[in-house]
Amino acid sequence: MYKESTNVVVKHLVNRLRDVRTTSNEFRLTIEEISRIVASEALNDFETVSQNINTWQGPLDVEMIEVQKLVLVPILRAGEPMLTGILKTLPYAKSGFLAMKRDEETSLSKLYYENIPALEGRTVLLLDPMVATGGSLIDGIDYLKTKNPKRIICLNVLGSQYGVQKVQEAHSDVDIFIAQIDERLDENDYIRPGLGDAGDRAFNTN
Ligand code: PRP
Ligand code: URA
Repeated sequence: MYKESTNVVVKHLVNRLRDVRTTSNEFRLTIEEISRIVASEALNDFETVSQNINTWQGPLDVEMIEVQKLVLVPILRAGEPMLTGILKTLPYAKSGFLAMKRDEETSLSKLYYENIPALEGRTVLLLDPMVATGGSLIDGIDYLKTKNPKRIICLNVLGSQYGVQKVQEAHSDVDIFIAQIDERLDENDYIRPGLGDAGDRAFNTN
């Protein structure tokens, strides 16, 4: 299943990302904001746990998200601001890391580094702003599945219709929550209209 956000605030924020006047700092903060909204949509039916808390009027039984069952995994580098944003909402979530780079000639991704905590019985939120050919996400999911997570949910900001479909075909058991899907890929496998290179935009390297 994939779900493109219908939230008008998300659309507004994605268009801020598209604007070349958006500075690197604003770009990262906007990715943070979008990620928190899309994460809220993705976690709407997430497991909760009962807790007894002390309120101003005494003890109260409440339901809280079972954060210990959640692992946030950004695909570096462009996934880093997504992690930063979601950790502001869920500061006690565990985090793991995948560092991948897409070869500019072949568009094939390569994994350079991983550091993933135990995933058995846990749900992974896999964070990557861009789904172009879908190759990086498919390879990331392949890798995470070797560690037997209970479930993998992808959170993305911008995708091509082609890339999202490829990920679905390769991993039909993985749900995708994405801010917006654009029409097509260009001859260099960049998303059009897109926003350019998300890593370069976020870290001021273009
Ligand atoms: C970008 C992006 C995705 C990937 C998408 O990262 O963040 O990981 O490309 O392309 P794909 O769907 O065709 O695989 P990139 O490899 O450029 O690395 P970066 O995050 O360091 O910029
Ligand atoms: N990676 C990006 O950052 N942008 C694209 O359009 C494609 C891949």
